[in-house]
Order: sequence, then C-alpha cells, then structure tokens
Amino acid sequence: MSSAIRVGIIGGSGFDRSDILTNRVEHENIETPYGKPSDNLVSGTINGVQCVLCFRHGRHHSFNPSRLNYRANLWALKQLGVNVILATTAVGSISPDFIRGTLVVFDNFVDTTKFRPNTFYDHEPGHLQGVMHMSMHPPYDRELRQLLLQSCAETPDVAFKDKSTVVVIEGPQFSTYAENKVYMSWGCTTIGMTQAPETVLAKELGIPYAALGIVTDDICWKEDGIVDPNEVITIFKATFPKAMEVLRRTITKIGEKDWTEILETIRNRTEEAVMKH
Ligand code: ADE
Repeated sequence: MSSAIRVGIIGGSGFDRSDILTNRVEHENIETPYGKPSDNLVSGTINGVQCVLCFRHGRHHSFNPSRLNYRANLWALKQLGVNVILATTAVGSISPDFIRGTLVVFDNFVDTTKFRPNTFYDHEPGHLQGVMHMSMHPPYDRELRQLLLQSCAETPDVAFKDKSTVVVIEGPQFSTYAENKVYMSWGCTTIGMTQAPETVLAKELGIPYAALGIVTDDICWKEDGIVDPNEVITIFKATFPKAMEVLRRTITKIGEKDWTEILETIRNRTEEAVMKH
C-alpha cells in the first residue's frame, strides 16, 4: 500500500453522509487564500486508505452550482494532503441510451459556464501567481478512470457507461429543449452543473481527478421533458449505495497502487504549464 496517498472525495447533490469514513475527524473553520470551502471537511479511512470528504454544495445543500466556491473546496483538499480526487455528481441524460440510475465514468466535458472563477492564477494578491495555460487533455485522469471502470464492472447489479461527454451548464436553472438539442448535436450525452471548473482546478493543482456521474433524470432529450429537482435528489440518494460501493472498491485499488511516478509526472506537467517568460 502506498502510505502517502490520500484520496479526496467530493460529494455531489444528495451526498450528505460522513459515516462512510471510519476514524472520522471533522476539520472546522477552514480558510484558504480563495475563501472558505462549502462546509467542514471530514477526514478518515475507507478500507484502511486515508480519505478526506468534501461536501461540494455543503452538507445541507446550501450552495447552488453557480455560487459555490470551487477554488476553496479544491484548495482545502490540497491543504489537507489530498493527492488524488474522486468526485460524484448528479447529471441528466441527453441521450436515449442513458437511463436514470446509470453510473457514468466521464471521459470529457464541454464547459458552457459563464460566471465562475476558473483559475487559481487570477493575478490577485495572495493567490497563485503567473500565467497558467494547463492542457486539458485528457480532462480526466486515465489511471483513476480505469480503476473506476474496473470497480463498476466488478460491482453486482451496476448499470454503467464507460464514457460520456458531459456538457456543463451555468445553472441554477435547467436547460431549454433548444439548448439540449444543441448539446446533443455536439455529441454530449449527459448534462450537469459542476464538472467545470472543478476538473480544471484539480488539474491546475496537479491532483489527478476523475468523476462518477449518477444519471438522475432521463427526459431532457425529449421535447416535453420537465426536470424535477426533488426527484434528482431522490434518484441520487437511491442510487448512491451502488455508487458508494464502486467508490469503496476504487479507493481500495488506489491504496494498492504505487502512485509515486504518476504523481511526479503530473507535478512536472503542472509546473511546465506556468509560463516562464
Ligand atoms: N443535474 C442533474 N440533472 C440535471 C439536468 N437535467 N441538467 C443539469 N444538471 C443536472
């Protein structure tokens, strides 16, 4: 087991449980150069692997995806020693092939968000300095994706998709049918509100990141589809035990792997993305 590995878990809408961790420690009043994270972070172990849990929207879902502080959440995880991240997120389907209750291991995203700080390098005092041009290919860490996919395949009764381009909308309102038709024409199969800038920011910090989507509604691709936000949470919670089993297996595999070289390569790539002159 790689003793230095610490897995950050970012829980999406409906993820309000810290009892998935043993030996829990609550980290209160965390401050970062970018402000406060959405809630206290909780550290502990899963199958002996060190983990830190971050409630993306706050434990009681206090922040909508447009208003939450992605930079502070990511920075706080890094501050607590996290060096790989697994995220969960609720997404809608914009393809007849993706039915609700399905788990999705994203392989790409399209960012249509408008109002979110999307870099740590924003030239503000006390923030990371320099001009950062991070390559976003591939957006999701290959190793983590493989471990998630193996875990999905091993977990009984799990319906999953091994790839999806998720379109990220600003929200907080859901999309129009006309917008959905555009996103479908772009090749997107799922729609969500949080994969950008979270994925981008993890890359800027040099933390390998992958996300497991839970399809919570499957009507956006239909002309008369009306999404019910309460149903999104209900389906997320109902599917969560399966997603959690996949995460548990993935975390065990992460703990068994030697990450030294992978993390070193990512660290070098991240440093090189800051322009020298
Ligand atoms: N999250 C869950 N379902 C969604 C949808 N239909 N659109 C955007 N974000 C979502």
